[in-house]
Amino acid sequence: MRIFGHPIHPMLVHFPIVFWTVAAGAYGLAAADATESVALIAKLVNGAGLIIAMLAMLAGLLELRSIDSSSEAMRVATWHMMIMATVWVCFLLALMLSISTGLDHSTAQVAAIACAGVGFLLMGVGGWFGARLVYEFGIAVKKERRDDADLS
Ligand code: HEM
Repeated sequence: MRIFGHPIHPMLVHFPIVFWTVAAGAYGLAAADATESVALIAKLVNGAGLIIAMLAMLAGLLELRSIDSSSEAMRVATWHMMIMATVWVCFLLALMLSISTGLDHSTAQVAAIACAGVGFLLMGVGGWFGARLVYEFGIAVKKERRDDADLS
């Protein structure tokens, strides 16, 4: 799926990557020095990451239509999709834990850091699969460019 000839998914993915990276760091920092403003930043950037990631997932799902369903590229795309969906859930849990739970404050804080930490690490793995789709299989690369390049 393209806008003005540019694929939409890679236009969006940088935002949740940055927001969730900042969120993971801020959750850790907030627990270390218990600053309310850093805790607020963690929640806000996490929420922003969740919203833009939803749009990115929608664009990614539409991009899947261009991949042959029996190809190696589709296998990689499926891994990428499942990992990124798990990342989304990890950061959603971190947000829920940092907003309100029945848990006491410090337990919720540690659980939020754990969820954000796992989400952050998985995001690196999912990003690696996503990059393979573009740089190894030429997904979302213009057909004429793909024909020029040696992608075999
Ligand atoms: C339903 C979920 C998703 C699907 C089906 C999906 C699908 C795809 C596809 C087909 C590509 C290769 C073509 C393209 O870039 O358009 C790709 C690349 C990529 N995706 Fe996803 N994606 C999903 C979610 C996400 C999320 C949430 C993120 C980031 C947090 C993400 C990060 C990336 C990255 C970094 C690349 C490589 C882009 C590049 O290097 O230019 N994806 N994804």
